[in-house]
Amino acid sequence: MSSAIIVTGGAGFIGSAVIQHLLAQTDDVVVNLDKLTYAANVDALSQFEKHPRYRFVKACITDTDALRAIFDTHRPRAVMHLAAESHVDRSIDGPADFITTNIVGTYILLEAVRSYLSRCPRQLADQFRFHHVSTDEVFGSLGPDGLFHEQSPYSPNSPYSASKASSDHLVRAWHATYGVPAVMSNCSNNYGPWQFPEKLIPLMVLKALAYEPLPVYGDGAQIRDWLYVDDHARALETILSRGKLGESYNVGGNSERKNLEVVQAICDLVDGLVPPKDGVSRRKLITFVTDRPAHDTRYAIDATKIRKALGWQPQENFASGLAKTVKWYIEHGDGPKGAGTYRGDRLGLAAVAAEARQ
Ligand SMILES: NC(=O)c1ccc[n+]([C@@H]2O[C@H](COP(=O)([O-])OP(=O)(O)OC[C@H]3O[C@@H](n4cnc5c(N)ncnc54)[C@H](O)[C@@H]3O)[C@@H](O)[C@H]2O)c1
Repeated sequence: MSSAIIVTGGAGFIGSAVIQHLLAQTDDVVVNLDKLTYAANVDALSQFEKHPRYRFVKACITDTDALRAIFDTHRPRAVMHLAAESHVDRSIDGPADFITTNIVGTYILLEAVRSYLSRCPRQLADQFRFHHVSTDEVFGSLGPDGLFHEQSPYSPNSPYSASKASSDHLVRAWHATYGVPAVMSNCSNNYGPWQFPEKLIPLMVLKALAYEPLPVYGDGAQIRDWLYVDDHARALETILSRGKLGESYNVGGNSERKNLEVVQAICDLVDGLVPPKDGVSRRKLITFVTDRPAHDTRYAIDATKIRKALGWQPQENFASGLAKTVKWYIEHGDGPKGAGTYRGDRLGLAAVAAEARQ
């Protein structure tokens, strides 16, 4: 009997990498359940169109009836939940969609799972797993020392991270209260091909190629722990298949970098591949702009648990992953097609503007 895995948000940056990984590494039918928001990578999906085990369903995770029909049609053995509004700056300008999709949507999906488990064959219910994919941003901001571990207290600072923290809590509660068989993961910043160019790395690559100013928030000293997207996809499949129910796993790349260092490295890589017309380094394009409100200073992951318990560790280092990523964006011109509606404008200043009016 064939089995199926539903991936919510499978048309997104990480979701499309997860689908590719699942199709290559498992025998499951992989069902991509995605609403196709502005962030979806329609082009990334074309590579799967002819795959005999790939299915696409356009649906919203807040649609109870649609979820019921999808579960009954595909009878999944697992759900990997990645669908979300994911950009911090957009959450500052308009938190409503983040509350609706990330919190209410996760609640409705959990209820759909609970209802499905109550009516599907016992054999399927016994092996079923729900994997909630979340972020290290739920833990808030670190000082110069220390790492986030699985027991770190939640302390989200942006509407995005608060909405993801809420969804984490809902999943934990649905596991404890209703016995929904759930595992969770909290991951650091991802980068790689197909990322929507509102995020730091693709934005800077595309602007550097176009000789546009490279806007670095504040002094650029904020630190993120970068993970190549395929390493994350591998970690997620590992957690889905072997993670302990009711537990969470931190996933990180052991690659802490200041934002300014990341942008400088991008300039150097782009210069190496597309020599600047006037011979002047693209580092000269770096411009320091108003900082993001409540900008977290540092994120860094202690990934000991997933390494020791599940044997996962990143295969890519930051230099090799960034070189691949920059090359991909150069080869793909202006990045993902869905990005056509986004012109690289500054987002996330609504709170700054409101403060200035007071
Ligand atoms: N990108 C990162 O660095 C990072 C790091 C850690 C965790 N995460 C988490 O991983 C997940 C995926 O992130 P991403 O960067 O691929 O996001 P993304 O923004 O690239 O993609 C999100 C996908 O979800 C879909 N979606 C949005 N709302 C939906 C809804 N209501 N119903 C169905 N589909 C909907 C979109 O169409 C899109 O295809 C998110 O849950 C995010 O919080 C991301």
